[in-house]
This record gives sequence, C-alpha cells and structure tokens, in this order.
Amino acid sequence: VGHIDDVQELRKCKPTVIPERFVRDMTERPVTACSAQDVPVINISKLGDGEKEISRLADACENWGFFQVVDHGIDFDLLERIEKVGMEFFMLPVEEKQRYAMAPGTVQGYGQAFVFSEDQKLDWCNMFALGLEPRYIRNPKLWPRRPAHFSETVETYSTEIRKLCANLLKYIAMSLGLKGNVFQEMFGSAVQAVRMNYYPPCPRPDLVLGLSPHSDGSAITVLQQGKGNSVGLQIFKDDKWVPVLPLPNALVINIGDTLEVLTNGKYKSVEHRAVTHEDKDRLSIVTFYAPSYEVELGPMAELVDENNPCKYKRYNHGEYNKHYITNKLEGKKTLEFAKIRPE
Ligand code: SIN
Ligand code: FE2
Repeated sequence: VGHIDDVQELRKCKPTVIPERFVRDMTERPVTACSAQDVPVINISKLGDGEKEISRLADACENWGFFQVVDHGIDFDLLERIEKVGMEFFMLPVEEKQRYAMAPGTVQGYGQAFVFSEDQKLDWCNMFALGLEPRYIRNPKLWPRRPAHFSETVETYSTEIRKLCANLLKYIAMSLGLKGNVFQEMFGSAVQAVRMNYYPPCPRPDLVLGLSPHSDGSAITVLQQGKGNSVGLQIFKDDKWVPVLPLPNALVINIGDTLEVLTNGKYKSVEHRAVTHEDKDRLSIVTFYAPSYEVELGPMAELVDENNPCKYKRYNHGEYNKHYITNKLEGKKTLEFAKIRPE
C-alpha cells in the first residue's frame, strides 16, 4: 500500500498533474483572495489597564472574530521550540509517522481528520493532533518518541497557552460587560487539544486548498504561524477571503462556534481556510480551548432580549463536539446544529 493521500509523499513523486481528489471545484479554488487588510492587534499587557484596550478587544470579537495578540507573555524561545519539534516531526519518514496514525473517525494522531467519503476533496495538508486536557482525553500511544523533546515541549507549550486562554476569556467576558470569571465557572475543566498542520509546497496552488473552509468548534482558538512563514491563513470577511499576515512572535486568536452561541451571535465564529504555495511550505500550530464535554450551554441570558432574540438552542457541548468531528469541514455548517429553526 502506498501513501497516496499523504501529501508529503505525493509531492516527493514530483507529480505533473494533481490527483483528482485534491483538485477543487471551480468555485472553491483559491483565486478570490484580496489584498491583506489589517486584522486587529491586541496588546495583552494593556488589557489590565482598563477600558481602551478592552473596547478594542470587543470590536475585534464583534467585527472580525479574529485578532492577533502581542505582549502575550509567552517566551519567544518556546514559540520557536514548538515550531522546531513540530517541523522535525513532519520531516520523519512516513513509516514512522504512521505509527501514530489517526484511527478512522477520530481526530488524534497523524493523518487527515474530517474525511468521511470517497468523493470528498482532500486538503493539501498533513495533520498531527493530540488531546491534552482534561487528562483522560490523552492517548499516550499517540505521543511521538521522536524527535527528542517533542512531548516535553508540547507539555510546556500547552501549559502556557492554557494560561493565555484563561486570561483571554477573562477579558472577553469583561468586554461583554460580564464578570471576569463567567466562562471559567461555566466551562469546568476545559478541554484543550493541539493540532499541527503541515502544508508542503504544491505545484498547483491555484487548484487545491491547504485546509477546507470551516469555523472552529472551540470557544477560542490560538494559532501560531511560524516565524518567516509564508502567508496561508485566510478569513472570510465581507464576502472576501482576507489573508492574515504572520506577525513575528504574535499569536492569532479566533472566536469559535461555542462563543458565538454563548454570546447569541454577538461575537463571531468566522470561517477561515488555508492556501498553499508553489515553493514554500508552512506549519501552523493550533490550540483549541473549549468547555468540558458535560457542560450544557446556550446563549447567556445577559445577551438575549427583545432586540436580540435567542438564536441558538441549549445543548450538551460533548454532543456538539461529536457532531463537529463526525462531519466534514464545510464552512459554518456545523453551527446549524445549534440554531433554533423557525417552525
Ligand atoms: C486551522 O484553521 O486549523 C489552521 C489554519 C492555518 O493553518 O492557518
Ligand atoms: Fe480553524
């Protein structure tokens, strides 16, 4: 058996024609990107100083669903280290990576998640994902032995990112006029997972997508684009695909479906995708932070009134998550699950 769906292996064969399974329908091809607009930049260390930066945060969550954070307090050296071990992992021989293969229908390990049918288009991407918190979601068999320091680096990185998420959610709550601890109290022991996406160069970036358009199922997501990374992430804003330029040592934050539901649509879970390059590869390291699976959630009473009637039903987050991981990535389609439909 070859590794025909593994894009790194595929590329080694120097294909002159892209296999059909990767070639997107005309309407999905990444030709529509416009020039970069300025995704808001939030200075975390200023959020404690009061109103001004908090209202910029509110504006970013309402009007963009995406922002970059600087002065986040995470050691730049750690950002570099996680990127290094991530890259080293993807450079291992495919046989070694396959030891950690993602089992069908699951989302942890090496491979491509969200593939459910033969006729579904594939992304020009290899993924490696690990569940981190709470501990019971960990699958120790999937933690790679090589490269050296992989596991300890993921551990250190995740601890830091977890603190950042908790801190951000505090300010996000405040930006909504709520008490700083509302999300922390609601979420219980929050679920955290990390996914590394590796996009090899593609001989025909005009025909493929690195990652299909989707919104995240998380409450918030922290995305690290590597230093010197090529531009790959695009967000769907005002009917256009807007590239998110990598800022050195900044982290990209986006609002996930869960926060859109909790805020009754005030804060937006924005659709995004990744595109590839002819001669440059790219690595992104993505952390998902979400409520504990047993949490029941729905729009918060404070954000529902006559002018903002309740848009989403109450549901169990574990069920939402299951729904999310058992469907292909397709725009904001998974959020339909939570919508209140008119009779
Ligand atoms: C993602 O949405 O999971 C990753 C997008 C990216 O690679 O920038
Ligand atoms: Fe995403």
